Amino acid sequence: MAAAAMTTADAPAGRAGAIRVRVDRVTDLAEGIRAFDLVEPTGGELPAFTAGAHIDVHLPGGLIRQYSLCNAPSERNRYVIAVLRERDGGGGSAAMHDEVDEGSELWISQPRNNFPVSDEAGRFTFIAGGIGITPILSMLAEVQSRGKDFMLYFCTRSPERTPFLEDILPLVRTGKAVVHHDHGDLAQAIDLDAILCEPEPGEHLYYCGPTGLMDAIDAASAHWPEGTVHFERFTAPADTEAAVQEGDSEFEIEVSSTGEVFTVPADQTIVEVLAEHGIEVDVSCQEGYCGTCMTRYLGGKPVHRDSVLDEEDRQEFVMICCARSQGQRLVLDI
Ligand code: FES
Repeated sequence: MAAAAMTTADAPAGRAGAIRVRVDRVTDLAEGIRAFDLVEPTGGELPAFTAGAHIDVHLPGGLIRQYSLCNAPSERNRYVIAVLRERDGGGGSAAMHDEVDEGSELWISQPRNNFPVSDEAGRFTFIAGGIGITPILSMLAEVQSRGKDFMLYFCTRSPERTPFLEDILPLVRTGKAVVHHDHGDLAQAIDLDAILCEPEPGEHLYYCGPTGLMDAIDAASAHWPEGTVHFERFTAPADTEAAVQEGDSEFEIEVSSTGEVFTVPADQTIVEVLAEHGIEVDVSCQEGYCGTCMTRYLGGKPVHRDSVLDEEDRQEFVMICCARSQGQRLVLDI
C-alpha cells in the first residue's frame, strides 16, 4: 500500500488546532477491520482525551471521517482508531485501508467528546455491535480505573468479524463480558429485553453499533429513567430529517467575527452558503448525526434537524449542515 504523506504545507486551511500525526502501526484486527496507532511525529505527547471521544481524520483525497479513540485515556503517547472497510461507505474507510500505511502522516482534529462517561453512574451496562466497540473500549478502561461495576455485551456476526477479541476475553473469563455471535441470523440475536428489563438504581446504559441493533436497544431501553441511556451513531438514524425540505424559506446568517450577512436560500444549507463565500467549515456526514459541524450561535433561534444535540446543548449550539432559522436571522459564532 502507498503511504499518503502530507507536509505542514498541507495543513487543512482554517482548521484551528489541527494536529499532524504519523501512523506508527497498522494492525489487522478482524475481517475488514484494521487498527491504526497514531503518534506525534517527534515522539511528544498528544492532547489529552476523555473516554468516548473521537477525532476527525482528514483523509487522502479530502474526505473527513470521525473515528472513536479506543485506547485508555491515560495513554498520552498515541491515539488508537479502528476502521471497518465499508462496502458502501462513500470512500472514507477504503481510503484508510488502501492509502494509509505505517509511516503515513495525517492531519486530525483535537479530540471531541459527544459520548462522555457519566460521573454520577454507579453501575454501567455497555452494549456494542461490531465496530461499535471502539468508543466502548476507552470507556471500559475508564470505568475500571474508577473501580466501577460494569457489564459488557459485545455482539458480532462471527469470531472472524470480532475486533479486539483478545482484549475482551479476560473480561469474559471474569464474568464481566459476554461475546455474542448471531451468525447473521436474527433468530440468534442477543436477548435485549432480558438484559435491559430492570435497570438498577444508578445504572447507566451506553451503546454503539449498526443501525438495526441501535434501534432495537432504543426500543428495549425505552422504560429506563431519563438521562441514564447514552449512545453514539455511526450512521444516520431511520428518522433523520432532510437538511432541506419542501416548505423551507430563506433566512439570513450573520458571521459574528466580521459582521457579514448572507442569505440562505430555501434550497441551500448554511454550510453551502458559507462555502460559496469562502468560509470553509468542517463537515462530514451532512445529515446531522456526526457532530463535526457543531457551531455556537449568538443570536436568533435555530430550527434544529440533527440527532446529536440534547435540549440543553441546543440552547447554545447548532449543527449548521442541516439547521435552519425560526426567525429572519441567525448569528453564528464564526
Ligand atoms: S456534518 Fe455531521 S452533523 Fe453536520
